Amino acid sequence: MKNHDIVEKNIGLMLFLVIIAISFGGLVEIVPQFFLKETTTPIVGLKPLKAVELEGRDIYIREGCHVCHTQMVRPLRAEVERYGHYSVAGESVYEHPFLWGSKRTGPDLARVGGRYSDTWQKAHLYNPRNVVPASNMPAFPWLFDNVLSGKETGAKMAALRKVGVPYTNEDIAGAEKAVKGTTEVDALVAYLQQLGTLPILQQKR
Ligand code: HEC
Repeated sequence: MKNHDIVEKNIGLMLFLVIIAISFGGLVEIVPQFFLKETTTPIVGLKPLKAVELEGRDIYIREGCHVCHTQMVRPLRAEVERYGHYSVAGESVYEHPFLWGSKRTGPDLARVGGRYSDTWQKAHLYNPRNVVPASNMPAFPWLFDNVLSGKETGAKMAALRKVGVPYTNEDIAGAEKAVKGTTEVDALVAYLQQLGTLPILQQKR
């Protein structure tokens, strides 16, 4: 009883002990995730993004596509029937940062690769109303004018390699050449067209 009195009469001490108690709850939930095989092993066929796709992903982030679009199909019947195979942890092990999101203004894009032609994707990005009359997605016409130099692509790959993405020396050395001269819209569409296209994700659910 005496000890408890001390804690109750010292708000600073109590706060400190409360934080310790709560952080244990967090640790118990979060730490094991780092060691679970399911969350750290890439799914069969998973490869790092190609140089142009990687630049496309950065444009996706820069333009805030992830603010309106999730890349996370939940294992619910309605979602799986609409989008395809539910998302699995092993498809995101090379994603830094991941783009799962939690708010959908537009549809989920985790399985959008191959759903439309490149031409459709470009027309849609130039002005969504041209192909989906009721769309309230913003237009991104500047992506057609901006051309990538590829100067930083290799460095980006090298940074990703530091956190475990298996880029090879050849990937890094060839990155600038692969990207140079590509328009931003082509890079973005290349990124979109590979989303969710691994054969293992096409299997029957
Ligand atoms: C303000 C919210 C918003 C932003 C930002 C946004 N979108 Fe959209 N997006 C939508 C809405 C709403 C739709 C559904 C109507 C349509 O198809 O245009 C959509 C549809 C799409 C579709 C078609 C998906 C399907 O399955 O039919 C693609 C692909 C897409 N967006 C890509 C992008 C990309 C790439 C970016 C970033 C450059 C982006 N969106 C930014 C709201 C947004």
